This record gives sequence, structure tokens and C-alpha cells, in this order.
Amino acid sequence: MTSIPSHKTDSMTQSTPNYADIQSIVADDFEIMDKQVFGNLNSKVQLVMSVSQHVINAGGKRMRPLITLLCARMFEDKPSEKAMHLAAITEMLHTATLVHDDVIDESGQRRGKPTANATWDNATAVLVGDYLIARAFNLLVGFQSLPLLQVFSDGTCDIAEGEVLQLQHQHNPAATEEDYLRIIDGKTSRLFMMATQGAAILQDRIEYMQALGDFGQHFGNAFQIIDDVLDYSGDSEVMGKNLGDDLAEGKPTLPTIKALELLKDSDIKGYEQLRVAVQTGKTPNAEQLIELVRRSGSLDYCKQRAWEETKLAQQALSTLPDNRYRTGLYQLTELASARLL
Ligand code: IPE
Ligand code: IPE
Ligand code: MG
Ligand code: MG
Repeated sequence: MTSIPSHKTDSMTQSTPNYADIQSIVADDFEIMDKQVFGNLNSKVQLVMSVSQHVINAGGKRMRPLITLLCARMFEDKPSEKAMHLAAITEMLHTATLVHDDVIDESGQRRGKPTANATWDNATAVLVGDYLIARAFNLLVGFQSLPLLQVFSDGTCDIAEGEVLQLQHQHNPAATEEDYLRIIDGKTSRLFMMATQGAAILQDRIEYMQALGDFGQHFGNAFQIIDDVLDYSGDSEVMGKNLGDDLAEGKPTLPTIKALELLKDSDIKGYEQLRVAVQTGKTPNAEQLIELVRRSGSLDYCKQRAWEETKLAQQALSTLPDNRYRTGLYQLTELASARLL
């Protein structure tokens, strides 16, 4: 397990708890869940085991399962086997999306280790990613809950659609913020919603589905915007993955979309360079282009948007039971946003 990468300053440390503090609120449940993530892998095929274990062993924050555990405890403060089991399944689905994402993005590094596609090959990574999704559903059936299956199957379709939409917009410099929001809503925020709403279904608290959905969606949006900013301004060592990939792939994320909009009015030459880079995915002058995005003021706009989404997530929490688990969820949103400070 790796801790949440953070760029926080000393003064920040005092006001924002660290990831381990939040995790410790559900320490026992978390430990059991973490073991289950490994224990759930039971393929008869050795290669499936090796590839899955490679990615799961590499670490990761286990943030989606942490969200599920906090939500479940927020509704009922006693250990719930079912919640731990569901939390482990959400991590399995998350891992599958990362394995697939690294094939699509041609990424070489994930969680500080070589990716599955780099260690084996694309075909192996795609098939093992498929296995992880199939196995997650195999385990979901065990709950014998149609509402749960409904939320997870709808959500998994939306995740796949989000990735396909993203692919469609690759090399499209005309992509808009609205296009971007649709993409991240699917590929990222949907799983955050599944992680929260799944806990409400298990605990029979469906009256909170809407509030939890809002929380998951806005938190997911904030989280992805922050990840996309860090692709331009983060530290590859801290993040455990290659940065600068989005531009090199001609992927119009919010930092690029906004930079193009701002440069169009202030620096037409820069605008044209960036537009061509997105369109062709050719970035021989990557450093210069990244600097151009930074100087455009786009990252400040993205940070502002991430804060807005964080605030909306926090507002959604205000209608949920007020206890230390809800505080943990609140702190998680603060901590994620603090990565940008
Ligand atoms: C990475 O998610 C994918 C995004 C949605 C940006 P995480 O940053 O939670 O990845 P791990 O699980 O900690 O590796
Ligand atoms: C998030 O997109 C991936 C998923 C939600 C599957 P990114 O492509 O930005 O994620 P990283 O940066 O590779 O982790
Ligand atoms: Mg990626
Ligand atoms: Mg990214």
C-alpha cells in the first residue's frame, strides 16, 4: 500500500489529517478488506494470477474501498463483513480499469512499478483486466441483491463508455469542458458513486442514495481534475506513474482545453502550437508545451474547478448522519484537494 501522494506544505499538515489518519478510523475493516483483495483472486490459470497479483501488489491508495468502509460505518457502527467484501470488489474493479487504461494510454509505469502491458504485453493486460471485471461480478452475485447488481452493472457500463468517449476525443483540440465532464463522469466518478451507493444498499439505507451519489460524483470529478492538473505539474516519483502522458497522447484534459481557450485570446502562436500537439500527439518540444499550459493560467482555473467540485461533494455530505465516519469522508475530500497546494 502506498500513501496518498501529497504536495502539502508544513502549515497544511496542521489542518489536514494525513491519509493514514483517515484510514485508521476504520483500521480493522481496512486490514481485512486489503487481505480480501488478494484472497479474491483464485484463477486456475497461473498467468491470470501473476498479472493480477503484480498490479495489486504494487500498492495503490485503496481509496474507493476506504470510501465504502466509511460509508457503511457511517450508517451502522459495527463491523460489516458484507461491506468489507464489497469494498474489496470495488478495488478489484478499479484495478481492472487501471490495467485497461494503461494499455490505452500506453503507460509504462503504475504505482511505482512497470505496468502490466509493459511487463507482459497489451493482449495479456486486456484479457486479465477483463478477468478482473468478470471475477468482480462473480463475487457480486454472492450478495444475492439485485439492486446492488443493478448499480454495479450500470456503473461498469458507464465506466467503459467514459473510456470510449475519451478515445473518441483523442486528438480533438475542439473538445469542450462539457465533453471532458462527460468523460470523467463515466471513467472516474461512476466508480466513486458505486463505492458509496453500494454501502447504502447493503445497509438498507436507500433514502441516502441520492446524497451519496452526489458526493461520489463530485468527489470523483474533483479527484480526476486534480489528477489531470498533476499530469502537468506533479512529481512522477511521488505519483508513481509517468507524467506528461496526457499531452503526449493528444488527450484533451481540462488543463489543455482551458489553456487552448485562454491562449486563443492572448498568444495565438502558442495556441497554434498546442492545438497541433493535441491534434497530432507529436510533442518534440514537450517541456515547452507544458510550460505554455502552465503559463496560460489554465491550471489555476482547473484548481478552482476542483475546489468547486470538492465543495459540492462536502455539501452532499451535510445531509448524511453526522459522525466520525462522515468526518473521515469530509477529510478525504480535503486531502485530495490538498495535493494541489
Ligand atoms: C488513478 O486512481 C486513476 C484516476 C482516477 C486518476 P488512484 O490515484 O486512486 O490510483 P491508485 O489506486 O492509488 O493507484
Ligand atoms: C483515469 O484516467 C483512469 C481511469 C479512471 C480508469 P487517467 O488516464 O488520467 O489515469 P492515470 O493518470 O493513468 O492514473
Ligand atoms: Mg492513464
Ligand atoms: Mg492521469
